[in-house]
Amino acid sequence: MDLRAERGNITTVDVDVIVNAANPGLLGGGGVDGAIHRAGGPAILEECRAIAAGLPERRLARGRAVATTAGRLPARWVVHTAGPIWAATEDRSAVLRSCYTESLRVADDLGAHSVAFPAISAGVYGWPIDHAARQAVAGVRAAAVQHVQEVRFVLFDDRALAAFEAALSG
Ligand code: APR
Repeated sequence: MDLRAERGNITTVDVDVIVNAANPGLLGGGGVDGAIHRAGGPAILEECRAIAAGLPERRLARGRAVATTAGRLPARWVVHTAGPIWAATEDRSAVLRSCYTESLRVADDLGAHSVAFPAISAGVYGWPIDHAARQAVAGVRAAAVQHVQEVRFVLFDDRALAAFEAALSG
């Protein structure tokens, strides 16, 4: 797998799978979640609602991932994952790594060759960006895939880009 970091808006990236930093309720939100639903259109939310209805307590467990249509986005699918909320008193790193490993497993099962990730949990969920970047790279590298050849970390600001470039070179 080829891993790279780039500055950009993930809703414009032409890949097979765009990963969404969702919440367990899968009903949309702000940040990248809001951007994906706004750009992708209502078909994404319709499928999210149907999936949520079939989940225990209608919620996606943090660290797990599910796929929907990408609607009007250039991608074929959106893989939604719910990241852990940062806690200084509890190490939730394994859950954050799982967001990446599980999202790649779901994408690979779909036959995807290229996947774009945002910096999961590094916004509203408060994860320090350098720590989040290291977990992201470790989670991707831990994935066993047959089809995925390209992973792109699409970062919304220069600080995040620098953190991911450092994590990739480490
Ligand atoms: N493209 C790429 N990255 C983006 C975009 C975008 N269009 N918009 C925001 N980001 C970046 C943010 O700058 C941050 O680095 O995505 C990263 C993740 O931030 P959030 O979107 O806030 O996601 P997260 O921290 O995982 O919090 C998830 O926020 O929006 C709600 O419903 C969502 O409850 C969930 C929570």
